[in-house]
Amino acid sequence: MKRIAIFASGNGSNAKAIIQYFRGHQNIRVETVVCNNPKAKVIEVAREFNIPCRLITKQDIYATDDVLNFLKASEIDLIVLAGFLWLIPEKMLKAFPDKIINIHPALLPKFGGRDMYGLRVHESVINAKEKETGITIHFLNEKYDEGKIILQKTCPVDANDSAEDIAHKVQKLEHEWYPKIIESILTS
Ligand code: GRF
Repeated sequence: MKRIAIFASGNGSNAKAIIQYFRGHQNIRVETVVCNNPKAKVIEVAREFNIPCRLITKQDIYATDDVLNFLKASEIDLIVLAGFLWLIPEKMLKAFPDKIINIHPALLPKFGGRDMYGLRVHESVINAKEKETGITIHFLNEKYDEGKIILQKTCPVDANDSAEDIAHKVQKLEHEWYPKIIESILTS
């Protein structure tokens, strides 16, 4: 059995798509959700599907080895970031080389970086008069949004699209492709 840890701190729509995709899967399962925000909706998602959810503090992940030890003890094969905004510490990158992936709601290297999340990404896409945008799934390295790209998928930006319209199209791509890519990484 291959085990996934989903790191999420937001609405958890990707977490939900991933959990649903692997429900009843023969060789892969979502072992845990790791969350840093006690108010995040993803906690409800985990509860709905009976996936244990571990709430962590900055202390747990940066100052101690609590999170790292928890992941090792849980025999995690792949760490999947889905709306997790804290930087992953070096020690975790070292312990899980090429085993941490992230999804970004734009076509990296465009519209990436520290403050690029949520609707701000799509507003920037509109301001830059892009004709298309999309998703990027990539490995994590110490440079954050610059890790090796695994997959990009595009969608058109129409003339009258609002940031919310784009968010909607991008999320559809995310929910369709993230689970499939996770599966292909864990079965290759
Ligand atoms: C997604 O748009 C993802 O690309 C980004 O964070 C967002 C998470 O959304 N990294 P949700 O919490 O899965 O709905």
